[in-house]
Amino acid sequence: MKRLFAISAVAFLLAGCSCCRDNRTDAEKFADNLLEQMTVREKLGQMSQFRPKGGVVTGPEGHSFNIEQMIKDGEVGSILSLRDLEYFEIYQKLAVDSSRLGIPILFAHDIIHGCKVIFPINLGSSCTWDVDAIRKSARVAAEEASAMGLAWTFSPMCDVSADPRWGRVSEGSGEDPYLAAKISAAMVEGYQGEDLSDSTTILACVKHFAAYGAPEAGREYNTVDMSERMFRDRYLPAYKAAIEAGAATVMTSFNDYDGIPASGNRWLLKDVLRDELGFDGFVVSDYDAVHEMVYHGVAKDGKDAARLALEAYLNMEMTSGDYINHGEKLVEDGTIPESLLDELCRNILVAKYELGLFEDPYRYGGMERFKKAIYKPEAIELARSIARESMVLLKNDDDVLPLDKGRNIAVIGPFASDARAMNGTWDGFSEAKRTVTIEQGLKARFNDRRVTFTRGCDPYSHIKGGIDEAVRAARFADVVVLTLGLPGNHSGEAAAMTTVELPQAQKDLLAAVKTTGKPVVVLLVTGRPMALESVEDMMDALLVVWHPGTAGGTAVADLLSGDYSPSGHLTMSFPRCDGQLPIRYNYKNTGRPLPDSYVHKQHHKTKKPYYSCYLFTPNSPLYPFGYGLSYTDFRYSDLKVLTPEVKEGEDVKIKVKVSNVGKRRGTTVAQLYIRDLVASTTRPVRELKGFVRVDLKAGESREVEFVLTPDDLSFCRKDMVWGTEPGDFSIWIGDDCEAELEGKFTIK
Ligand code: BGC
Ligand code: BGC
Repeated sequence: MKRLFAISAVAFLLAGCSCCRDNRTDAEKFADNLLEQMTVREKLGQMSQFRPKGGVVTGPEGHSFNIEQMIKDGEVGSILSLRDLEYFEIYQKLAVDSSRLGIPILFAHDIIHGCKVIFPINLGSSCTWDVDAIRKSARVAAEEASAMGLAWTFSPMCDVSADPRWGRVSEGSGEDPYLAAKISAAMVEGYQGEDLSDSTTILACVKHFAAYGAPEAGREYNTVDMSERMFRDRYLPAYKAAIEAGAATVMTSFNDYDGIPASGNRWLLKDVLRDELGFDGFVVSDYDAVHEMVYHGVAKDGKDAARLALEAYLNMEMTSGDYINHGEKLVEDGTIPESLLDELCRNILVAKYELGLFEDPYRYGGMERFKKAIYKPEAIELARSIARESMVLLKNDDDVLPLDKGRNIAVIGPFASDARAMNGTWDGFSEAKRTVTIEQGLKARFNDRRVTFTRGCDPYSHIKGGIDEAVRAARFADVVVLTLGLPGNHSGEAAAMTTVELPQAQKDLLAAVKTTGKPVVVLLVTGRPMALESVEDMMDALLVVWHPGTAGGTAVADLLSGDYSPSGHLTMSFPRCDGQLPIRYNYKNTGRPLPDSYVHKQHHKTKKPYYSCYLFTPNSPLYPFGYGLSYTDFRYSDLKVLTPEVKEGEDVKIKVKVSNVGKRRGTTVAQLYIRDLVASTTRPVRELKGFVRVDLKAGESREVEFVLTPDDLSFCRKDMVWGTEPGDFSIWIGDDCEAELEGKFTIK
């Protein structure tokens, strides 16, 4: 009876109720109406998310819930990581037909860089600097995922990080807050579209809130401690941009921040997120993160953990069950007022309403729709072009690349025929048979009788006779294409490493192949920057291909054949060696900066250096942020600051001329960096504040204009206020963070 009442209330509201003229939205009125009918346990149920048996495991096991029974009892608000498509409908039916109020389930999954069509891992995509393309990729992912039955993805990951020991750098957009902010916002727009009630749009989830990208020593799930100023300057901007783009949900992080675990951190979840950033959606914990407050040592048991999370304004608990197990007691004993549950549950019901789930619980999914929605040719084509744009050419001695189509090519190395290496971490619902490997891509583009394949070694170990065979193959070829790097599942979550050097077996393979004297083109398959100084000399060309996704092999062929020119630029510095980590381009100058002439050199072998540097290693990375070569050459000139003096609150305008001075068409990424010369707090030596991809024919030039807004020039000042300060600035424009073309402006 109650359920019928709830549903007829929907019909009433959907028909447009004009009698109650308050300023609540229809969704809010609907949610309030429903809340009045719900028991405390049902409210807690809506605030709980569970993983069914057979679902993807993304955390420690240990819970066993009888999901079916719980759904019938109205105790499951959301389900994550379902793999079996028919269960979307089975579970939804159970919730709608068999639970007392019939509230539909919200299905969630980690659709991180594609659903069926897989795009490059996010770090790779960020190297395109192509925000529109990334927005489109999120749109494609939402179209496929929604057709499958999903209405919520746990993406974008907005965690900025400068530490490639941390495996999850593969899921983010690199080390720079400005670029990460642009990309994070675009992904939200792509997933959520214009209107959540459109059945091809899904809820985005800004994660992991907050500062997850700075775990001590790059170790997964480790403590984060940093000043609030550093947090606001460097980490908050990407989350903020995604929230301002309208993200409907936020996920907490596993780490503690300033001694308080994020899932119980009221300052983060209420003061910053809701009161300051104006977020009005709902927050989900990360996997088990509520209960983990017991292990953090801030809660004595599950009940205490639930209390901390509720008091911190955490709406939905993922997997551990502390809300449903202990929430009633917390209300009964007066620890948690029921009005707080109402407030937190309401955000969830509103999201379900806005998705249209109350109107039609089955609007996401359906076999017919699914078959039509996936693997659309234009989606595969987009994956291919993003993959192509994401690959970064770091070295190309004697123009080894592109390769002549008639040549004999020995493809060697552990990743050339590995679909998993193409798709990388969080490979969604990918299928190996739909993935073009490097070997397949090259065979299809070059004369396939002239392309041979030899494995050579495994990622971490030698195989019997592998090196001998590889050397033989190299001798018979004109050029070697060597795939080196890391397996697809060795980046992402729970994949921290103490070294980002190449494994020894691969170094041995490279050295052996190099002895043949044949040019060696290395394709680096990786989800994180790697430290290559000790082996770089043996590479004639080096193309970072990341884990490039469904069309990865085709994209590799696009570039190696010269049909397209590489245009990717690094979004994380590539260190020389592990000891430099973490490493970032936007470091602080310190009181003892290294004189410029020393920055790239190994120095001071005899005399002690009283500068901020190492005894035997330069400070600079092997390849800096923003760096990336092409098959043509670009020149930057005629930098004009159109507004050399501005008042606070005004825009700064700059023009520059970009020319393709080489012999081929190509795309460069024009990047603008600033330095605030004297401020009330120490500022980075350079900060990215603008970028644009510029596609030019051979010999062509174009003027590019940049506008710096007051927000671009703002930072967390000494008074802790986000704002600008008067003073002098330097700017540089070029195609990496070491750009030399310089200008100046002043804020009066
Ligand atoms: C990860 C999240 C992910 C969640 C659900 C966690 O372990 O940290 O990024 O969204 O699992 O799979
Ligand atoms: C050192 C101090 C020392 C001072 C005077 C500085 O460079 O950091 O520890 O006391 O010199 O020698």
